[in-house]
Amino acid sequence: MSDQQVYVPTPLEKARQDFVLGIKFLANGIAQQRVRDVYRHDVLPQAERRLGHAPTTRREVERDLARTTAFRSWAVLTHRSQGMMWDAIEATTRRVAPQAVSQLASLRTAPAKRGSLELDPALEIPTPISNTEIHRQPGGFVGSADPDDLVPGLRYIGASLIYAVGKGQAKAASDGRAHNLLSQLQARFPDFRPRRILDLGCGVGVHSQAIALAFPEAEYHGVDVAAGLLRFGHLIAEQRGLPIHFHQRDASRTGFEAASFDLVLSNILFHETNSARLPQILRECRRVLKPGGVMLHADVATQTSRLELDDQVMNDWQVRWNGEPFWTGYAERDMHKEMIAAGFAPEQCFTEYVTHGKSVGFVFGASV
Ligand SMILES: C[S@@+](CC[C@H](N)C(=O)[O-])C[C@H]1O[C@@H](n2cnc3c(N)ncnc32)[C@H](O)[C@@H]1O
Repeated sequence: MSDQQVYVPTPLEKARQDFVLGIKFLANGIAQQRVRDVYRHDVLPQAERRLGHAPTTRREVERDLARTTAFRSWAVLTHRSQGMMWDAIEATTRRVAPQAVSQLASLRTAPAKRGSLELDPALEIPTPISNTEIHRQPGGFVGSADPDDLVPGLRYIGASLIYAVGKGQAKAASDGRAHNLLSQLQARFPDFRPRRILDLGCGVGVHSQAIALAFPEAEYHGVDVAAGLLRFGHLIAEQRGLPIHFHQRDASRTGFEAASFDLVLSNILFHETNSARLPQILRECRRVLKPGGVMLHADVATQTSRLELDDQVMNDWQVRWNGEPFWTGYAERDMHKEMIAAGFAPEQCFTEYVTHGKSVGFVFGASV
């Protein structure tokens, strides 16, 4: 059984969710492109005349761009479609949650589990992760202390099918979510067969499942602060017979022994974590890696060094209005420098923008 079989919209729910997906495509497609066109044809030339030189920071153009009809239309579509998305997902979530809870109850008493779930109700969850509705997900990622609370995981899966797909990641809720990580490992370290893997910010672990399948001989540990995601991740991994060990721990202080993992990885963690903790997370990666080990992270390619100012303004709007508190902090970091500061040898570090289809991803990592 897969996650798709736990979270299955009825045809009517699916029609509503597809309608929202259509609006997401409009927001992320022609509406966003219109903002870029208006920026290039109107806002940029005006800024150049006003400043006497080409603008170099988003602050020099954001006021004027944010006042255009194109920007306002994009902002309304983006904000409204996000709210509609959560409303549409909620119908399915509420309907399937009791069934998911009874599946989890059966799992608790099942004699032979392949993996495990270790929760720590005393874990101090850093703000703003603990008190922010990331992506404006109702209740946030963390959820409640109720041992049956699977709702954050159900909502997260529901959103993968709309939010991520609406951004061009068609395989966001299936094994394809691990594509970037697996293809990078294959290309950079073709003979590497890790025996022990640590996955930071694993969430519901959809990508973890694909990586665990690719390295069946490895012991796989996933870490996340959000109990509601981990419970659901544990349920769907066990339903698929995959031996993944989920732990509610902080990626910046995992508590695992030094030099105990061959591979430390993450998928879209760094743009979703408190950017002040980012150096600590990288130091933790260095600490837990064995000699000869590999660190590999896949994330979004929103670095300010790469984006035009109009895209920077749109991303910063998402920070303030659309539940993306960490985007700007992440986008302004130089990951190559951060990895060196965390103790990785400069010649062993890599950063790369990877294109697949129309979307561009960012990968960074190092070997030790
Ligand atoms: C965008 S989600 C990605 C989840 C999963 N990796 C995926 O690809 O679907 C980011 C995850 O990082 C987790 N997270 C953020 N900061 C963390 C931290 N300091 N320690 C552990 N997990 C963290 C969040 O709870 C969330 O589950």
